[in-house]
Amino acid sequence: MGHPSFTRKQATIINVVAGGLLALGIVSSMMQSSSEGGLSGLFSAKSSASASIGQIDTDRIIAADSEPGNWLSYGRDYGEQRHSPLTQINAKSIKDLELAFSVDMYTTRGLEASPIVVDGIMYMTSSWSVVYAVDAKTGDEIWSYDPEVPGDWARKACCDVVNRGVAVYEGAVFLATLDGYLVSLNAETGEEIWRVNTLIDRKRPYTITAAPRVANGRVFIGNGGGELGVRGYVTAYDTQTGEQDWRFYTVPGDPNLPFEHPEMEEAAKTWKGGEWWKIGGGGTVWNSIVYDPDTDTVFLGVGNGSPWTRTIRSPGGGDNLFLSSIVALDPNTGVKKWHYQTTPGDTWDYTAVQDMMLADMEIDGKPRKVIMQAPKNGFFYVLDRETGELLRANPYVTVNWATHIDMDTGRPVENDSRDFNKSGKSKWILPGPLGGHNWMAMSFNPNTGLVYIPAMESPLVFDVDHDFKATGRYKYIEGGWNTGIEFGRLLPLLGEHPDMPANKGYITAFDPLTGKTHWMREHSTHWNGGTLSTEAGLVFQGNGDGYFVAYDAETGEEVWKVNTYTSTIAPPITYAIDGEQYVAIQVGSGGAGLTDGSTTPASSKYGNFGRLLVFKLNGGQSIEEREHWAREIPEPPKMELKAEAIDHGMEQYHEVCTFCHGIAVIGSAALPDLRHMSEQTHRMFKEIVLGGVLEDRGMSSFADRLSEKDVDSIHAFIVARSWQDYEVQEAAKKKVAAK
Ligand code: HEC
Repeated sequence: MGHPSFTRKQATIINVVAGGLLALGIVSSMMQSSSEGGLSGLFSAKSSASASIGQIDTDRIIAADSEPGNWLSYGRDYGEQRHSPLTQINAKSIKDLELAFSVDMYTTRGLEASPIVVDGIMYMTSSWSVVYAVDAKTGDEIWSYDPEVPGDWARKACCDVVNRGVAVYEGAVFLATLDGYLVSLNAETGEEIWRVNTLIDRKRPYTITAAPRVANGRVFIGNGGGELGVRGYVTAYDTQTGEQDWRFYTVPGDPNLPFEHPEMEEAAKTWKGGEWWKIGGGGTVWNSIVYDPDTDTVFLGVGNGSPWTRTIRSPGGGDNLFLSSIVALDPNTGVKKWHYQTTPGDTWDYTAVQDMMLADMEIDGKPRKVIMQAPKNGFFYVLDRETGELLRANPYVTVNWATHIDMDTGRPVENDSRDFNKSGKSKWILPGPLGGHNWMAMSFNPNTGLVYIPAMESPLVFDVDHDFKATGRYKYIEGGWNTGIEFGRLLPLLGEHPDMPANKGYITAFDPLTGKTHWMREHSTHWNGGTLSTEAGLVFQGNGDGYFVAYDAETGEEVWKVNTYTSTIAPPITYAIDGEQYVAIQVGSGGAGLTDGSTTPASSKYGNFGRLLVFKLNGGQSIEEREHWAREIPEPPKMELKAEAIDHGMEQYHEVCTFCHGIAVIGSAALPDLRHMSEQTHRMFKEIVLGGVLEDRGMSSFADRLSEKDVDSIHAFIVARSWQDYEVQEAAKKKVAAK
């Protein structure tokens, strides 16, 4: 199998010193040599599942409570409550919790994975869909597997080249790659057993970042791409052979073609006018799929509309099933049992793909089997998972797009005064497209009855695409974002809404039955990690400030914290080996939060060095302290900057570059902040943006999209923005010097 992950490791080293190496002009030669890695034989390697290692099956996951030392699937067991029975680390002992070991992930890109631990081995993923199997007691690498995702596939990813983890089942490890393959690996050696293309059209901008789920000999996987334009679906494959069992589309396709399955006929009635299928329609299942052994059901969390704007997507109105829905399927046939749509006629990117959890609860005097979700739209849902009946729907963050959920109809009551489609005017909306809660895992403690949500308030100004407003026609951009929203003129639009609140991030302890927030703690950034609950009454979360914190589950009191000097977005897990309990977490920011320039997370202060950190009582190690990485904006080049070019560049930048390089050119830690470009990079600007010299590392050529004049304008805008912030920086320095 070899260790092809070497290429990615090299890429990271280049990342960290990219400016300097670019200056020396040796980056492209290094990249060429690195991409020739020893890949021969990778795709011919045929193996079978391990007979002894990674022997997880459905019954074992069902009975996960009987082996609390393991973390057998994405959310620990099928219920995905992320509540561990382990109690060695508790309110009393936690003062002795120390780093036991760390593993360098060799990346400065986002780390989102939830590791799996089985019988002493930890399986986890890194950026670019690379898998690592490590000794869960020491962190020593056992094997690694790099699927060699092509660098230019990164352009199809809305939100960084992240991956949320693998599934382990009957001696095999299942990985879904950014470029849409589902791979089965031998759990003992990392050798490929089979590999299938899950994409219906490889030319479309599909990506996969989710962890597959497994049950009863099937592995389930969806995909993402709704921002750029795709049609969502989920496929079930045979775990042994990789053969396709069934496929469930979440939105209707071209009305001139036959329906793929009867549910599409039902859905098509709720789409009216427009030509959504040309863009894709959306409804991607890019994160949560949950299997319920009690009712033998698989639940899909379905994503937003593509394009976002409903007047473009479905001008005649309609709910647009099954966008933003929880869909319950028979796992054996893929036939729908029921669905519940959280956001009918979605127009805000309100995915219902957020992690779902199963629980048994007494509600209004009746025992109920429920499924719970805090989707992006800001309401927390409790549904009867046998029938889909809506039991509770209360806001868990500030919401202004709807006033409430009507419990009789089960539908949200939209706030007309915020309707940017009907009014033809821009409006700021809460939650924004990052959601009141995103993919970051929440957890549930059955003893407190509280759900611990990594919640946020991150509004956005929405306005319908000005071309569409003027002409009634939408111009589809192949290979670009197709939201139908005015991203290009976002800066002036923000200027029109000075009352829009700033981004905020919290951990909230939310009571799903009363809808009350029991306690909340505010963080200094909105982009924070998932949560872990334990039977010892603790809640763990890593945050954007760089701290990994344990809270008292009942009171929210901070009982322990450690500075990791890196922002966290991944969820912690816990396991035990030889009588010792461990808590593990990947640190390293990235993902959709790439666009936040309003706060300075730890990763921007200290560098975004991706690691796995593993703690235990008296672990004996400490986290390396890091110096504040006070990176100054270098003096930008003196260029002739014409107002017209800057304006055009601003629009082009925010339509094409902003999703990776940040709003107003304020970059995140995971990718280069373009205000910091060196003189040489400025000189190479066109070779990078049109010539694609950094393509191997995720910075594709945009020659298909932008003319030379566009790129000159974008450059002018970036330089103008750099001068603005450079002058503020220099003035502040002078002030300090004068004191
Ligand atoms: C899909 C994400 C993505 C998009 C969209 C994107 N970039 Fe990049 N860009 C990257 C990555 C990743 C790198 C860093 C590559 C590396 O590791 O050197 C980068 C690096 C760069 C660099 C080199 C910066 C330096 O200091 O080394 C420039 C210049 C640049 N991008 C310009 C642009 C422009 C202009 C646009 C819009 C036309 C754009 N990028 C759009 C991902 C993106």
